[in-house]
Amino acid sequence: MNFRFEKILHHPLFSDTICKIEEKEKTRFFCCHGMEHITSVARIAYIISLEEHINISKDIIYAISLLHDIGRLNEYEKNIPHDKAGAELASVILRDCGYHENEISEITSAILHHRNNNSNQTDILSDLIYRADKLSRTCFLCKAYKECNWKETQKNKTLIY
Ligand SMILES: [Fe+2]
Ligand SMILES: [Fe+2]
Repeated sequence: MNFRFEKILHHPLFSDTICKIEEKEKTRFFCCHGMEHITSVARIAYIISLEEHINISKDIIYAISLLHDIGRLNEYEKNIPHDKAGAELASVILRDCGYHENEISEITSAILHHRNNNSNQTDILSDLIYRADKLSRTCFLCKAYKECNWKETQKNKTLIY
């Protein structure tokens, strides 16, 4: 394996949790948070980083993207907000996958803040993941367009990435 993020894909806590989230969301009407979503976020975040010359490694960008919604299962089962639950799960997985302590705190902080619009802040990683997360949704084709609580201005009207 060339990248450390590839180890995340094969970590049993990661793969089991993603499978369970996908199972829970089988009949979900709104946006889902399984493998398709998290890989879209990873690719979009990486493209943005290249376009905007944001100097963050692929290992960091992919780790945040793959793990940002991993807390969804705890949200569904125990009502724990998924950003908080996700940051905790992520630190366990990242440690097993060879990430260093300073990287783990960067990644978990971005996961903790991925639901906030950070555009006015200097938190580059949280802003990157926030934007990629939103841009990953194909609102223009969504069956839940009318019922979705995103503001009209937030909904994607076309494909940017
Ligand atoms: Fe999320
Ligand atoms: Fe997400």
